[in-house]
Amino acid sequence: MKSLVSKTPNQNWHPNIWPPFTQITNSKPQIEVSHGKDALLFTKDPKTELIDAISSWWVTLHGHSNEYIADAIFDQAKSLEQVIFADFLHPQAKKLAERLSKLTKLERLFFSDNGSTAVEVALKIAFQSWQNKGEKRTQIIAFDGAYHGDTFGAMALGERNIFNENFDNLMFPVMRAPWPSTWLNDQEVEKKENESIERLENLLKTPTVAVIIEPLVQGAGGMNMVRPEFIKKVSEIVKIHNSLLIADEVLTGFGRCGSLFAFQKANILPDLISISKGLTGGFLPMGITLSKEEVFQTFLDDCPKKTFWHGHSFTANPLGCAAANASLDLLEMAPHKYTSLEDKHFPHLNKLRKFPFINKIRLTGTISAFDLEIDNNSGYFNNIGKKIKSLSIEKGLFIRPLGNVLYLLPPLCITDEQLEKSYWIIEQTLSEL
Ligand SMILES: Cc1ncc(COP(=O)(O)O)c(C=O)c1O
Repeated sequence: MKSLVSKTPNQNWHPNIWPPFTQITNSKPQIEVSHGKDALLFTKDPKTELIDAISSWWVTLHGHSNEYIADAIFDQAKSLEQVIFADFLHPQAKKLAERLSKLTKLERLFFSDNGSTAVEVALKIAFQSWQNKGEKRTQIIAFDGAYHGDTFGAMALGERNIFNENFDNLMFPVMRAPWPSTWLNDQEVEKKENESIERLENLLKTPTVAVIIEPLVQGAGGMNMVRPEFIKKVSEIVKIHNSLLIADEVLTGFGRCGSLFAFQKANILPDLISISKGLTGGFLPMGITLSKEEVFQTFLDDCPKKTFWHGHSFTANPLGCAAANASLDLLEMAPHKYTSLEDKHFPHLNKLRKFPFINKIRLTGTISAFDLEIDNNSGYFNNIGKKIKSLSIEKGLFIRPLGNVLYLLPPLCITDEQLEKSYWIIEQTLSEL
């Protein structure tokens, strides 16, 4: 008889939970959080506080348990918690659509549930819009190092690596151009940008559905940053070659790059924009795909084939929309919170130059990052990241390095003292390595 082989899981993990992005056999168990306030998380055992310097996977925009957003959700919950959006409109969705449309200059909003779905929707809209115009196009272009989410379409757009190689046979082909990452005092930036643009121009000779880009910062790929000039050039050649530009602003939107949206720093207008994460201030899951009116117009036809047959149960959930409207209020009331963080990071980052193993120091808006060149071993599975995370947590800072890339992406409410303390803890931790 075949024996049932069962591996003994790590006993310190909860027996009913399957955590995301984690192999429990070799990871420390989740830390139980009792509550959060502003930039702080309070843990239960041991009872301590941690600065959440990565905004809990880049979502917590105004800090934890923000009362203004909490009240907006509470008030909305008492009047309408959910309604089928195919048949009903509600005031919060109307208000949010009008505001975001005005802020981005893209006229149409399609609601979904998270960053991956906001990307899936952008891709499906782009793909179908060409078919609706009677043109059959299949080529899609993304960048080396890209990450656009974990559902199949979004996953296919991302860089092919160990995170998705099990699904390789199921993913559609995507063409790629190099990502000309840059950092402070980079002497090669123009050369790298030119190479990328050249490759893109060659690829675009084939009629292309869309080019998808993370404007200014590739997040999961390693907080790799490019100049606004590069984004502008990409936008120009996509236009010249009559393709569509999708800006994946799931991470970069809502002030993260120092302007409300990253594409605005490059002074461009994408055809489609995907947003999520900070959209609701990080309170509730929601994704939106914004589209130019002219793309939307390609779907207007009595022929059923031309309809965009896509929707999610929680489309434009009123609680999510209320949270998003409240979050936009806060951004409008205090834009300096996202415009001033770059200058606040800078002196602290500069001090870290004293470590000889720190390389490629970079900074865009509220996001700072650098590479650690230790053990000659770069990449996500470099153990240095795990070690730094552990040592920092012991000192009161929650960070989650991407392998050998250490970065800070704090909530906008982080105080000057908390930011200083975060860098101080990093300094102490690096001194112990
Ligand atoms: C640029 C970008 N796009 C898409 C996603 C996917 O978002 P979600 O995790 O909400 O599905 C992420 C998540 O980190 C992201 O950084």
